[in-house]
Amino acid sequence: MDSIVITGGRRIEGELPVSGAKNGALPAFAATLLCPGTFRFSNVPDLRDVQTIISLLREFGSEISAVEDGVYTLESSGINHVVAPYDMVRTMRASVLVLGPLLARNGQAKISLPGGCAIGERPINFHLKGLEAMGAEIALEHGYVSAKAPDGLRGAKIIFDTVTVTGTENLMMAAAAATGDTVLENAAREPEIIFLADLLNRMGGDVQGAGTDRIQIKGGRKLHAAEMEIIPDRIETGTFMAAAAITGGHLKITSCNPADCEAFTQKLRECGCSISEGENWIEVKGPRRPSPVDIETSPHPGFPTDMQAQMMAVLAIADGASIVTETIFENRYMHVAELRRMGADIKLKDKNAFIKGVESLSGADVMATDLRASASLVIAGLAAKGITRLGRVYHLDRGYQHIEKKLALVGADIKRVRER
Ligand code: EPU
Repeated sequence: MDSIVITGGRRIEGELPVSGAKNGALPAFAATLLCPGTFRFSNVPDLRDVQTIISLLREFGSEISAVEDGVYTLESSGINHVVAPYDMVRTMRASVLVLGPLLARNGQAKISLPGGCAIGERPINFHLKGLEAMGAEIALEHGYVSAKAPDGLRGAKIIFDTVTVTGTENLMMAAAAATGDTVLENAAREPEIIFLADLLNRMGGDVQGAGTDRIQIKGGRKLHAAEMEIIPDRIETGTFMAAAAITGGHLKITSCNPADCEAFTQKLRECGCSISEGENWIEVKGPRRPSPVDIETSPHPGFPTDMQAQMMAVLAIADGASIVTETIFENRYMHVAELRRMGADIKLKDKNAFIKGVESLSGADVMATDLRASASLVIAGLAAKGITRLGRVYHLDRGYQHIEKKLALVGADIKRVRER
């Protein structure tokens, strides 16, 4: 198993490009199941989760080729299998995104029910409730969700009890291939939702209102394959911004979309970072020592839960006390115990983390069982005195394209070490 070894204390400085968004690529790949044809996606990140969805789609009969760096073609004419097995869903919960498209196109689908995961219980009840409202018959048996819609899905009005990103995506895709019109109320507003709506419209669908909490989808359109560039990864962007902030560094982050990162940019400004931005770049100058700030995660456009852990690493060395409140996932504090081992002073009570900034962190052997928690430990390691060795790197590889190579390019002392 690999580790990432970081010798902290180096200021990072230079220019870093952002890769395509993991959470954009996954629904886009799932959407290819909606109709036959050859899709082409560019700016696809080189990530383990992308490889997982490729394996899953191949299992259904898709033919997928990497035609050049970051460019894939997906041919979805020969879908002949509709079961998403436990082994794949277990490694990537976003596998649930195939449920809506498979059911809408084939009239049936069977996917392993994802269990709880490192960050929370994460049920999919709203996905299933929405599909039932569209006429699906759903049964839970032997750990699998069996969904049937022999006469096809029909449009419905669906009000989500809670804002759900993949739930909104699943139902948007299903609705695009259903008959009749669908309205999704209390829909997620993340940039990845707008991106998926753009893709569905390019496929001949009619999706309006993405980016607001009311999305309207006209069904009954004949869908066809399309080409699309995956949007930049806003969480990778934010993670690099945090790296500049914690090291007092100076980074120009390119190929990104600053408008998608506003909540995070605002908090880093409050921390004392000086930030300027253009159409597709953000420049961040970190302060000598970050100022404390309070943060509460919420659905977009609020502060993203996917940046909470990385921000906490920055606040761990702030000049004062901060409170972080996690409202999306009930167990997303995996990084706290590890940050404490690096000298951070953090106390947890219910949804809150009370952080007393310390002068400096010290390197340690750490590991996490969640992607963003792992990223937060890398960020902490960049600023810590001495050596930090991060284990279970496969979590990081799920969502960051060669993070150690990118950070080394801008002056970090970081490398991947292959363990026996
Ligand atoms: N929820 C339910 N029932 C449902 C669906 C969601 O109770 O049927 C709850 C969840 O348990 C959670 C809240 O609603 O408490 C929001 O969860 P959501 O469904 O929005 O999360 P998700 O769609 O499973 C996506 C991202 C996550 C990101 C969250 C929140 C993808 C593939 N995943 O997950 O990304 O944290 O939205 O923004 O888009 C990551 O990239 O590291 C990651 C975990």
